[in-house]
Amino acid sequence: MAELEGLEFGKSDFVLLDEVNMEQFMENLKLRFEKGRIYTFIGEVVVSVNPYKKMDIYGKEVIEDYRGRELYENPPHLYAVADAAYKAMKRRAKDTCIVISGESGAGKTEASKYIMQYIAAITNPSQRAEVESVKNVLLKSNCVLEAFGNAKTNRNDNSSRFGKYMDINFNFNGDPTGGHINNYLLEKSRVVQQHEGERNFHSFYQLLRGGSDDLLKSLYLQRDPAVYTYTSQGASVTVASNNDSLCHKAVMAALKVIGFSADDINSIYKILGTILHLGNLQFTSDGEHVTLVGEDTVKQISELTSTEVENVRKALLYRTVATGGGEVIEKGHNEQEASYGKEAFAKALYERLFGWIVGHINAMIEVKDYNPALHGKNTVIGVLDIYGFEIFDNNSFEQFCINYCNEKLQQLFIELILRQEQDEYQREGITWQHIEYFNNQIIVDLVEQPHKGIISILDEACLTAGKVTDTVCLDSMNKKLGQHPHYTSRKLLPTDKTLEFNRDFRIRHYAGDVTYSVEGFLDKNKDPLFQDFKRLMYNSSDPVLKEMWPDGKMSITEVTKRPLTAATLFKNSIIALVDKLACKEPYYVRCIKPNEVKSPLMFDDARCQHQVAYLGLLENVRVRRAGFAYRQLYARFLQRYKMTCEYTWPNHLMSTDQEAVEAIVNQHGFEDDVAYGHTKLFVRTPRTLFTLEQERAALIPILVLFLQKVWRGALARMRCRKIRAIYTIMAHYKCYKVKAHFWEVERRFTNVRNMADYGKSVEWPVPPAALMQFHKITQHLYRRWWARQLIKNIPPSDMAEVRAKVAALAALCGERVDWGYSRAWERDYLANAKDSPLTSSNFVRITKELKNKDQYGQVLFSCFVRMLNWFNNTKDRALLITDKHIYRLEPKKHFKVQKRITLDSVVSVSVTSSTDQMVALHTASHDDILVHLQRGELNSNQDRVGELVGILTDHFTRVRNTALPVKVCSSGMQVQMSGKPKTITVETKPGQTIADFKKSRTGFTLFLPHQ
Ligand SMILES: Nc1ncnc2c1ncn2[C@@H]1O[C@H](COP(=O)(O)OP(=O)(O)O)[C@@H](O)[C@H]1O
Ligand SMILES: [Mg+2]
Repeated sequence: MAELEGLEFGKSDFVLLDEVNMEQFMENLKLRFEKGRIYTFIGEVVVSVNPYKKMDIYGKEVIEDYRGRELYENPPHLYAVADAAYKAMKRRAKDTCIVISGESGAGKTEASKYIMQYIAAITNPSQRAEVESVKNVLLKSNCVLEAFGNAKTNRNDNSSRFGKYMDINFNFNGDPTGGHINNYLLEKSRVVQQHEGERNFHSFYQLLRGGSDDLLKSLYLQRDPAVYTYTSQGASVTVASNNDSLCHKAVMAALKVIGFSADDINSIYKILGTILHLGNLQFTSDGEHVTLVGEDTVKQISELTSTEVENVRKALLYRTVATGGGEVIEKGHNEQEASYGKEAFAKALYERLFGWIVGHINAMIEVKDYNPALHGKNTVIGVLDIYGFEIFDNNSFEQFCINYCNEKLQQLFIELILRQEQDEYQREGITWQHIEYFNNQIIVDLVEQPHKGIISILDEACLTAGKVTDTVCLDSMNKKLGQHPHYTSRKLLPTDKTLEFNRDFRIRHYAGDVTYSVEGFLDKNKDPLFQDFKRLMYNSSDPVLKEMWPDGKMSITEVTKRPLTAATLFKNSIIALVDKLACKEPYYVRCIKPNEVKSPLMFDDARCQHQVAYLGLLENVRVRRAGFAYRQLYARFLQRYKMTCEYTWPNHLMSTDQEAVEAIVNQHGFEDDVAYGHTKLFVRTPRTLFTLEQERAALIPILVLFLQKVWRGALARMRCRKIRAIYTIMAHYKCYKVKAHFWEVERRFTNVRNMADYGKSVEWPVPPAALMQFHKITQHLYRRWWARQLIKNIPPSDMAEVRAKVAALAALCGERVDWGYSRAWERDYLANAKDSPLTSSNFVRITKELKNKDQYGQVLFSCFVRMLNWFNNTKDRALLITDKHIYRLEPKKHFKVQKRITLDSVVSVSVTSSTDQMVALHTASHDDILVHLQRGELNSNQDRVGELVGILTDHFTRVRNTALPVKVCSSGMQVQMSGKPKTITVETKPGQTIADFKKSRTGFTLFLPHQ
């Protein structure tokens, strides 16, 4: 929605003036004009001041601002009125009309174009092709009508020289389905004569300047308006805003779009050509006979009009008259008659051409195949753009008609505005207070009253046989209208030198006094055209031309009714127009011309004030404020002002909106300034409304802040709820994942107790990240349980072996290839009869003695070994390890103890990673025991190193509570012998029968037999 304007631009509605007087009205009008605000409301009427410059207020965005909005929601604009008319039509199925009035150059035609554009822009949102084409024709018709009906005048470069009323038909959807154009009184005298500084109709210059060479050639025309009598005067008149050549192309294109055929278009230009040629035709007279000058021109005319040359010549020089006896004679014209007849012909040609074009457009946009039962009610918006009130230096019959028309429209304006107002008060049950206003009915009567009115007197004079001159007619008017307060002439007012005797009469119009010159009135009213021209045209072989002249069909002898006079025809058409408008809901655009010089800057106070006065704008404001300047439906009033009262903000608790409105009114103390209708509140003074508006304006920022606050809060809460929901979902999901893991573990492990491997082969499910630690612990627990299940079944006697094996496993860390875990570990191999059948009994006996002597608890390990003696010779010996000592025994000497060291002195053990049976027991005294374990009868090729390491480490950790480090060497093994470091390497050697140590450079090498 567009911003409502601030007060620095003046008051957007004259109803809001503090006091309704001319001074304040003009002040506001001027202020707004100077601030570039060309539109101002009087209620629903728009007052428009011609800006005389391009305004940036008609764009697409502006149209969007006004579309579907209420009047008071946006600054005043034509669009607001157009939308109001459209809404009334669409919402309430009312026929509406928009009456645009104002004097020539005030901006009526421009306004009507903007209104049409607005209506076109807001309709047919679904872009239906048939509706678009109707819209297109309606819009394009403007271009054509302007070319043929507009001319440059001294007041307006693009002055409409005809009145136009256009009905647009709408279907129940509110889309245009067709239309109809009524045209009123084309100023045809312009065809043959123009005022100083003015031009003929645009169409002539457009043809001559923009027509193609071929076209001009075919019409026998030269590309120079100065050559032709009818255009020569206007040829030198420049029109800045008008490019004839470009316009010609636009008109041609528009004609095609509207649906004129190539032949139609051709005929149109032939007629224009004919008129131009007629203008250049001259007559001479030898005193008796009148002849034509320029035979070529006659031929060209006959060709362009598709008639016989001879007939053309005859029609121009003679007229056929029927005598009383039914005889027909040809009567030659005198020179004056001939040239008069020619001009009348030229004017009539143009007038009929224009009428035919309008008729053709109407045929194209006429609503076809309309069925109200099927299509719903067909509604209409009428747009009236008619010539405004005109006062020239020399005012003739045309001005008389135009000004009469404006009187009628003013009368309608007063009538409708008052009637509407009255109706409304009555509908709403409010007592209506009559307001005085100037009623111009008296002037209307002066012109149109039967028998007494000016038109009547003119007609009477025209009917009278014999020589009735304009002067005679003026006399008759003086006689009959002498008493009329709005009529005067020099005869009635001999002292007024501004009036010429026997020529001028003056009418005091609602818009000002206009002095008319009666010269030519009778003739123009009679508007005679010799029958011969009509017949000539009717007999043309050009069908278009024939169609324009149906009245040429009559035979000369036929007795015809006298045709109606021009004034009566015009009067009838205007009365019909007024009737048409009166049955519609009217919307008004009142145009004001700010100055005479087309300046965008000048505001001519006197001129404007004059227009304001005669347009009755002040009265309009007064009528609007009669009693009540403002009225509004309760609901709407409430909606707009409810924030100004605590009982109604934000919502009232009363039973009706009316009561709530009363609460607002009472709180402000406006009780005496309002009246309550059935559906509307009526406010007497604008100040009251103004106060409310101001209060509202002050509260709006607070409300906006409040709304922002509430909305931001709502947004934040919404966001918060969303995040909470996310976390809840996440929590539940995590919980579910954990539970799912538990369930899965449970499912997989439920039966492990009964499985042969106690579930060792069961695969663990992958735990969610949160359960990683838990997973490790459960796996650990499971493994302990699993181990427990295994251990549980091991007999206590086997436990020592198991422990030793576990210890070996840990000590060797998988670095030794073979450690003999798969066999039974017998420990005391020397005492084992199966392993050492020859020596075991001997050994057992010896160990008994040793046990008694050294008090050891048990034998940890014993077996035959190959080892080095003191002299570095290798010898077979026996190794006995008890829980107290390590013994080296000589097997050959009944296991005599050769050496004994305490088990405590062993600090670490070294073995190789290979399959050899070499073991070094490192001692604290740096005199290590290096042995190669011999295998006995039992498991003759199995490893015993693993067993020795397992037994020792198990013993050390469990019994002695100290760790015994074990080193698994993959290359040379480091030992100390009598405090000296030696490196022991292992090699296999072909031909070696038993494993044996040999001295090497760095120590010893254990040679192994090749296997
Ligand atoms: N709203 C407007 N914006 C810009 N120029 C305008 C506007 N209204 C009128 N004019 C100017 O005034 C001239 C006369 O306007 P026009 O509508 O032809 O007057 P009218 O039909 O009342 O005789 C236009 O040719 C145009 O230059
Ligand atoms: Mg106009």
